Amino acid sequence: MVACEPLHSSSQKPLPPRSTKPGYFLPKTVCIWLACGFLFLAFLHLLCCSPRDAQEAAFSYVLQYANDAYSKLITFRSGGGQPCDYSEGRWVWAPGHARRYNATVCDVKEGQDCLLNGRPDTGYLDWRWQPAGCPLPAFDAAAFLTAVRGKHVAFVGDSMARNQGESLACLLTSAVPHRVVYRDPVRYRRHFMRWAFPTHDVTVSVYWAPFLGRATGKCENYSMPYNLVDLDAPADRWAADADTMDVVVLAASHWVLNPAVYHNGGEVVGVHGHPELKHTDIGYTTPLRQVYRMSLEWLSSGRPRTVVLATFSPTHFENHPLDDPTACAKKEPYKEGEKELDSMEKELRRIVVEEAEAAVQRNGPGGAVRIEVLDVTKLAAMRPDGHPGPYMNRDPFANGVAQKMPTDCLHFCLPGPVDTFNEVLQQILMKKR
Ligand SMILES: *[C@@H]1O[C@H](CO)[C@@H](O)[C@H](O)[C@H]1NC(C)=O
Ligand SMILES: *[C@@H]1O[C@H](CO)[C@@H](O)[C@H](O)[C@H]1NC(C)=O
Repeated sequence: MVACEPLHSSSQKPLPPRSTKPGYFLPKTVCIWLACGFLFLAFLHLLCCSPRDAQEAAFSYVLQYANDAYSKLITFRSGGGQPCDYSEGRWVWAPGHARRYNATVCDVKEGQDCLLNGRPDTGYLDWRWQPAGCPLPAFDAAAFLTAVRGKHVAFVGDSMARNQGESLACLLTSAVPHRVVYRDPVRYRRHFMRWAFPTHDVTVSVYWAPFLGRATGKCENYSMPYNLVDLDAPADRWAADADTMDVVVLAASHWVLNPAVYHNGGEVVGVHGHPELKHTDIGYTTPLRQVYRMSLEWLSSGRPRTVVLATFSPTHFENHPLDDPTACAKKEPYKEGEKELDSMEKELRRIVVEEAEAAVQRNGPGGAVRIEVLDVTKLAAMRPDGHPGPYMNRDPFANGVAQKMPTDCLHFCLPGPVDTFNEVLQQILMKKR
């Protein structure tokens, strides 16, 4: 199993020192309190007494203008022309909505073919993501292919990049003629895959590169204790093909939580999660920033293209060890407010958004490389029910229930919530610049 256990949550940042300035003059304080009180009442009124649509409109307005640069990255215009922030929203019950294809026919990784593996409850296929402020159109294979006509769409990153790439392959191959160009001969590894869609001259590829940078060790052989990662060089296979890529989806936030030794210019610059190596722990945020920055710089030279950075997709090993079959046994999505992101999840998401913003700054306005963020953290975080769990293996309870069983609460079942990532991707790619 490729689930990566977070080794430690992010260290708490110290609070800023309290201001020691003397208090304000009383009337000013009263004014501030009155103003705050008024705003609070207006907010309460909006929350309790206005229709849901008005609430969503107001909140999407607030969200949209909170950070203009960020909002440009995460909004698209819906059919009606209004801006839509898909990164906030809720899952609504929509029977059958996510029963989009037969994963056995499109040959997904067996561990994520939950129906084939005998998962009996299928309610996780009856939900639709409702973004704040506008509907998210259902995936449309012809529209997607038209948006990327003549192009090579590449998913580069960890097993979540592959999960999303396989989802896209299924969404497309179930609808239009295609050809399987390449399959990893070692079926369970799936380090490289490619499909062709001749009607639109489109190629879709998946490149396994869990650190984006060149890496060996644990990521190649799970019995090894740690990874060896180059922060200054992209992994070989995707680097060799980079010149052919027109749309690149990068997703690689999970493996930096694993033990690793990081190199830059051939020198060890830090280690993470492996105290025996007697080196200062570099943590996971610095390496994550650096591999994204290096990859974005690499992709910003050469041909014009679109680079889409997918944000962290949280795991749901809810207070259970990785091998507890009940670790993600929930049968429904979380409701708004039921589960908040923890500080590590927020940080992993934020780093990717910030690196996208930094790349936009570096490339300048109207640069040849368009940078987009596929902000899936919230919509993924609200789907504890969408993982294979013990159904990562065929008929896991055929011999009764064991206390410890391989359990996957990281990837999503196919079909499943990860298909929604591609519905959002479609909107991003159809968006006018
Ligand atoms: C998918 O297709 C296979 C092979 O045609 C079939 O045996 C299986 O029942 C189908 N699965 C679902 C969930 O429809
Ligand atoms: C994987 O690593 C282990 C431990 O270092 C080693 O014994 C084994 O031979 C390696 N397997 C392969 C296929 O390289």
